Amino acid sequence: MANGFLQITDNNDRNWYTALFSRALEIRHSFEAGRKFHPSLEGVMLINLFFEPSTRTRVSFESAEKFLGATVLNVNLQDSSTAKGETEEDTLKCVAGYMPDMMVIRHKREGFPRMAQDVTGIPVINAGDGKACHPTQALLDVFTLWERFGDLEGRKILFLGNLSHSRVVNSTSRLASLFGMQCHYCSPPGWQKQDAPQGSIVETPDNLGDYDVIYALRIQFERGAGDEFSKEEYQQRYRLDEKRVATMADHGVIMHPAPMNRGVEITDGAADGEKSIIFHQMENGLFARMALLEKLWMGGGSC
Ligand code: CP
Repeated sequence: MANGFLQITDNNDRNWYTALFSRALEIRHSFEAGRKFHPSLEGVMLINLFFEPSTRTRVSFESAEKFLGATVLNVNLQDSSTAKGETEEDTLKCVAGYMPDMMVIRHKREGFPRMAQDVTGIPVINAGDGKACHPTQALLDVFTLWERFGDLEGRKILFLGNLSHSRVVNSTSRLASLFGMQCHYCSPPGWQKQDAPQGSIVETPDNLGDYDVIYALRIQFERGAGDEFSKEEYQQRYRLDEKRVATMADHGVIMHPAPMNRGVEITDGAADGEKSIIFHQMENGLFARMALLEKLWMGGGSC
């Protein structure tokens, strides 16, 4: 039976994640060797409920569930009875009545996935809630860095861009810190991470030689970002472009959670250049989520 809610906090056990990363890497290698099916969730029923748009999280969860042999039900909320005025809470209770073993939920409201678990009593994996958290993005991000660098202790990561509207920066910086990484933050005034520790703020992204990772973030236009200053001003002062990439360390890598606003927070040259591991990062979403589902289902502990 699955354990409950995935919440990344500062108190978590690094070994729990390291075991998950080892399994994700094992699964990745098995795919590379041509073995994709790992039927550890046969007989398990999962429901995916995305109240907010998604490509990567939704498709990689569904793929992960199917490669693990689970029975998968995707609720198309655009065609659901919420359009007829049913409350989302009633929709949740209704769906839960069809006996899923786990649910994967994304919602624009902070705390909605946790509330869904409390209301239904069914284990829920948080696939992103408002500006608060995106724990499985953190898993795939730190897994990608662990795969690349091995020991992450003391490695430096710079989160760049629209930090105040980003749930990714909250979750990924927490997990990166748990692995001993030094997190730094660079954003325009007004888009700062509110709880960034003293000394972690970087004024400009014009000298990136100190960092192992530059993590560019999407400007969250749908969450109200973007009115504060012009696109041109942002591009000039903060966009990750070829000139700024040229200041990076030889071994430095570029990440982005995607979807990318190409040309706005990152140029094509930076996104597709030799330092970018963005598409590898996306692929790892499948393997990290397979390892997570397996671990939660087999009772590997909630966190
Ligand atoms: N990174 C991420 O969550 O992408 P989607 O919104 O496409 O799922």
